[in-house]
Amino acid sequence: MPLVTTTEMFKKAYEGGYAIGAFNVNNMEIVQGITEACREVNSPVILQVSKGARAYANHNYLMKLVEAALLEFPELPIALHLDHGPDFETCKACIDGGFTSVMIDGSSLPFEENIKLSKQVVDYAHAHGVVVEAELGTLEGIEDDVIVEAGQGSYTKPEEVEEFIERTNCDSLAIAIGTSHGAYKFKPGTKPQLRFDVLDEIVKRLPGFPIVLHGSSSVPQEFVSIINKYGGNMAGAVGVPEEQLRQAARSAVCKINIDSDIRLAMTATIRKYFAEHPDHFDPRQYLKPARQAVKDMVKHKIINVLGCNDKI
Ligand code: G3H
Ligand code: 13P
Ligand code: ZN
Repeated sequence: MPLVTTTEMFKKAYEGGYAIGAFNVNNMEIVQGITEACREVNSPVILQVSKGARAYANHNYLMKLVEAALLEFPELPIALHLDHGPDFETCKACIDGGFTSVMIDGSSLPFEENIKLSKQVVDYAHAHGVVVEAELGTLEGIEDDVIVEAGQGSYTKPEEVEEFIERTNCDSLAIAIGTSHGAYKFKPGTKPQLRFDVLDEIVKRLPGFPIVLHGSSSVPQEFVSIINKYGGNMAGAVGVPEEQLRQAARSAVCKINIDSDIRLAMTATIRKYFAEHPDHFDPRQYLKPARQAVKDMVKHKIINVLGCNDKI
């Protein structure tokens, strides 16, 4: 089938109490690992491309890799999404270039400017059959907030969400409830805890509306240990507990973004491979197990965290 939007996926996910995985793609092995996993466990999927991915791999290469996956797995519902669209021009380029979904990330802007920019993207996207994710609340600096006890600063303000959705007409909303990007989300020794009270308040105000969580890697310590054992130094890398993400997926959270865990799985696998095969130099030799590690990680997330297996 051709690329789909997220509309149908989110409707079913909301009603079914699960979330769709949104995985970042940067090269062929990642696209293959993710889509092979989805095919094996019958899961719809969102493949997402960041500004950095477009700079690294080029829009056309990524587009063609995703089209190759559509040919290989014609029964798999795949949405192609721009992750963290920084401005109208990048969103327009992706809409014009075949994406079915874009994110406009105006979360660092003042409320009125975020609304203005998000609405501009929504108007253009909807006129072209593309859906839009917008964001309210910032993920950055979340560790600072944990230290500041009163710390509501970075979390999404529930009292703003209705006006934001009404005025932008966006199709899904990314919120900040304590997740953050990268591998160092929480201070070692502290107890990671998402703000389910904030999520619940938002859901109460936006019944039936799809919510998105960014920064949702769990940073499995087995991979951190392998990386550190084989020459890496990732001391203090801590992620979001998977059971908290599973809990979020059961509610209105319909899209969960996972990238760092895939990077960790690939890096751990390649570091171990080189340590065990110091004489090897054919990229296919170490990229093959790395691709398998992506596949295993995605399968694990689908079955144990997102709950979107057997949904095709
Ligand atoms: O949230 C960002 C994603 O992990 C993509 O990261 O900007 O390094 O491609 P990137
Ligand atoms: P992680 O860094 O937690 O994997 O988050 C990825 C993300 O939010 C992509 O937009
Ligand atoms: Zn993100």
